[in-house]
Amino acid sequence: MKIFRTKQALQTYLDKIRENNQRIALVPTMGALHEGHLSLVKDAQQIADVVVCSIFVNPTQFNDPSDLERYPRPEENDLRLLQEVRCDVAFIPTVEEMYPKTEESWHLDLGNLEQIWEGEKRPGHFQGVTQIVYKLFRLVEPDVACFGQKDFQQVMVIQRLIDIKKLPIALHICPTIRNEKGLALSSRNTRLSEAGKNKASALYRSLNHIKHYFKERELTVLRKEALDILYHEEELEVEYLAICESRSLQEIDHIDPTKSHVALLVVWVEGVRLIDNMLLD
Ligand code: PAF
Repeated sequence: MKIFRTKQALQTYLDKIRENNQRIALVPTMGALHEGHLSLVKDAQQIADVVVCSIFVNPTQFNDPSDLERYPRPEENDLRLLQEVRCDVAFIPTVEEMYPKTEESWHLDLGNLEQIWEGEKRPGHFQGVTQIVYKLFRLVEPDVACFGQKDFQQVMVIQRLIDIKKLPIALHICPTIRNEKGLALSSRNTRLSEAGKNKASALYRSLNHIKHYFKERELTVLRKEALDILYHEEELEVEYLAICESRSLQEIDHIDPTKSHVALLVVWVEGVRLIDNMLLD
């Protein structure tokens, strides 16, 4: 596996790949890799000739400085994992390499996506995400970019970025990878105790409950039952649970059979913010 730390070195290497008409896939990550990330790399290997995995903890998408500081950075282990799955290229730049000017303006019109759910709870987060992803897109010029369904709203935001900037990049969405109890894999899970992980499996039970009874129950009743699983069975702190139309992410009060739907969920466990979702149709 090639490891690059500068944009220049990566670009020189990728120029040769493009000259040979090889397809490039990009898997952007913030490191602390787990099976979920590795499944993105494996998916990418099926659809491209060369897979570039970037590892960069992007400061502009954190609105809580202590969250940024505490974010795990196990570089040696990450590189070992990427090597094991035969990733072709790891790109691990420094903050100075990606943000050479300390003051850099960036704004993308994300419309409603910035006002609701993650957009509302984490002001500026999606501006930071699109800022770094656009830098990576311009640098790598991938044919395909792979993102996990776990961050559902982020996927919609990236599609918006691709549309607005008219980029010739196909977005590949990979299904959420879960542990044996249904907990969606996330780098933040390393901060949970075993008991916390067990409690957190209620997210999956709650989402599954919604999916199972989606066509049968009134939505307000169904939402209350799903909340009961989180509040009463496990006494978890729920930030939001919403049943939405899957394109606009607007909350719905009745099912429109011509549309598709998604349940979005954020819960706090042991001071860790866990995000999950489930497609319902
Ligand atoms: O999903 C993530 O890990 C990050 O938001 C991303 C897409 C790598 C941008 O920093």
